[in-house]
Amino acid sequence: MREFTDEEFKRKMKITFDYNYAMKDYLGTDGAVTKDEINSYKDKCRDIIIEIKKQRQDGALPYMDLPYAAEEALEVKQLAQKVRYMCDDFVVLGIGGSSLGAIALMQALKNPFHNMQTADEREAPRMIVADNIDPDWFKAIFDVVDDDRTIFNVISKSGSTAETMSQFLIALAHIKDKIGANYNNNMIVTTDAKSGALRTIVNKEEFASLVVPDGVGGRFSVLSAVGLFPAAVIGIDIDELLAGARFMDEQCQNEDVTQNPAAISALIYYLYYKKGRNINVMMPYSSALRDIADWYRQLWAESLGKKHDLKGNIVHTGQTPVKALGVTDQHSQLQLYVEGPDDKIITLIRVLEFEGEVVIPDDTNNIQGLDYLGGKTLSELIGAELTATEITLMKNQKPNCMITVPKVNAFTLGQLMYMLEVQTSVMGMLMNIDTYDQPGVEQGKLYTYGMLGRTGFEEKNEEIKSQRQKDNRFVV
Ligand code: PA5
Repeated sequence: MREFTDEEFKRKMKITFDYNYAMKDYLGTDGAVTKDEINSYKDKCRDIIIEIKKQRQDGALPYMDLPYAAEEALEVKQLAQKVRYMCDDFVVLGIGGSSLGAIALMQALKNPFHNMQTADEREAPRMIVADNIDPDWFKAIFDVVDDDRTIFNVISKSGSTAETMSQFLIALAHIKDKIGANYNNNMIVTTDAKSGALRTIVNKEEFASLVVPDGVGGRFSVLSAVGLFPAAVIGIDIDELLAGARFMDEQCQNEDVTQNPAAISALIYYLYYKKGRNINVMMPYSSALRDIADWYRQLWAESLGKKHDLKGNIVHTGQTPVKALGVTDQHSQLQLYVEGPDDKIITLIRVLEFEGEVVIPDDTNNIQGLDYLGGKTLSELIGAELTATEITLMKNQKPNCMITVPKVNAFTLGQLMYMLEVQTSVMGMLMNIDTYDQPGVEQGKLYTYGMLGRTGFEEKNEEIKSQRQKDNRFVV
């Protein structure tokens, strides 16, 4: 329940994007972005924002309308409410865009040790996201859950991804074996409304199911049932998440690039990309936001890493996303960021108010060199370290931006994720590529099908075999 009116709440919880230290005014160096450069892109960015609105109206960007899908959200909440009481363990089977959003939301919005809390403390099932097929790791899940009190949620837009389908078949056999007649209560399917093997199975087995809306690709699906259902099951307020996304949507409609957080951030990254900064580092100073950087890594990499532009020219575009965690990676990565090559644009994330507070005991008077810490809080310390990092980077002419999140909650998370999605769309248009396909991933899938004997992929298998015969030349 909010303590403020909607308008007050929005004012207090508005996230901001600050690009001061990405500008030549602060960095002083010739390679830095200037106001003139930004101005020279104003018209192009306005055209892009208008084009995005047009595509959206034409139904080509349905991810942008997910925050307004009230009926779907209600369906998700109703099913989640039921499921919460039916299980102690909720196991998501999915990969890539079908899993990273749920992981990020759980890490951000639940107790960091949610899965280790007692049932009373956590007031919601544990959630395990099985996003890999390492046999030891996957098998171990079945050892730690109670079969009768476990519900699986298989999530696959295509309904055919080999990894997810294998997990599904294993889990299905397991529940048939352990649960008996009513096994279908222990499996919920999230997939396309009509197509794919999973939908066929849903119809046959009468599993409860949710829909991945038409045209919403995996990495843009966190605000659909893909991300919302797992979130709702573990007790995240999905209405607030969607309200935050809608609030950001209002800002992302602004046709003036300097007033539009998604567009200006995309433009800054684009201008630096053109200047040879091929790496985009996201570094939240918040453990809660650690996996947002992971989710973003997929969004950015799969959307923008492309061989062809929209005209079919070979361009090999893409800016490698890197995730780092403040303060942990100050002791791992920061040396490279400060003194290494000029190939990065860095975005730090500051949280203004942490949920809890920890005070460092004030009895350090006699301990030389530690007395300055006494009586300080950990949020003061993390805030000071973040400021120190941004200023150090700036003084070393390393461009960096800052996303400020007033507090980590469902409303700010909705804003942040929506902004990063629209930012990716704008970046794709600046790069003139297809943001929404992933042909490079498809190629690997075809080889896998061939090797595993899928009908129709025999040629791929032959290709692999003949390649393998030549592969012994450089092995030590
Ligand atoms: O973003 C994407 O499109 C991909 O990462 C997919 O989410 C991933 O490949 C899983 O696909 P699916 O949901 O069809 O199983």
